[in-house]
Amino acid sequence: MYELNPPPYQGLIGHRGVAGLRPENTYSSFKYAAELGLNWVEFDTQLTKDRKWVVLHDASVDRTTNGKGLLTDLTLADLDELDAGHWFSPEYANERIPTLEETLLLCQFYGLQANIEIKGSKDDPLMHAECMYEFLQQNYSDSDSLPLLSSFDLDCLIALRKYFPNFPISFIVKDFTPDAIKICQEHSFTTLNCGVYNFTLENLKLATDNNLPILLYTINDPVVAHQWLDAGVTAIFSDRPDLLLKR
Ligand code: G3P
Ligand code: MG
Repeated sequence: MYELNPPPYQGLIGHRGVAGLRPENTYSSFKYAAELGLNWVEFDTQLTKDRKWVVLHDASVDRTTNGKGLLTDLTLADLDELDAGHWFSPEYANERIPTLEETLLLCQFYGLQANIEIKGSKDDPLMHAECMYEFLQQNYSDSDSLPLLSSFDLDCLIALRKYFPNFPISFIVKDFTPDAIKICQEHSFTTLNCGVYNFTLENLKLATDNNLPILLYTINDPVVAHQWLDAGVTAIFSDRPDLLLKR
């Protein structure tokens, strides 16, 4: 099974780029992640009405742009009209919603490993898996550093595992359960990504005993982050990686 890319490995993943410091999931956010010295970023991707992969967290553009509407009702050309930075600060006006292709090129340019989280797939997980398969076929060669694919949508991940028997894939859950370990083992998923809120040392021990790496989201308190990393969590997602790098 494909494992997470090795060093330089900090156990620290910039969440949506660096969502606490720059408008999430934008060029500025990924660039700043690289400037901070991160080597790994997470971002969310979903399909537009015309089935183009773009980088956006919410189902609608309302919160993070000056536009309105569901992404599934908007084309890539519609998105090009939107400002995805001003909501965060006027300093970032004119940021755009990046395409997945642009984002992966940026990651390559800055030497950032990519965690692609697939959103919006629940209504048609198989179509989403097929579109991701086609996208990665066109945009990745064997020699490239493979991105980590992740999702809350198990059906989509199971379909992706069939397309990519050797790809690093993470199952995301809000709360850890022993069943989630079994699911990861059954489908040869690479890691289990859990919400930190109810996660316990006992949960970590169970995962470790089963050789399953845990990635925890989202931790912005440096003390808590280092406690979990010292306890043996493989990596954490953070909106404020700058605070964690100061240790
Ligand atoms: O993959 C970790 C985290 O990104 C999952 O939650 O809502 O921030 O995408 P969310
Ligand atoms: Mg995410």
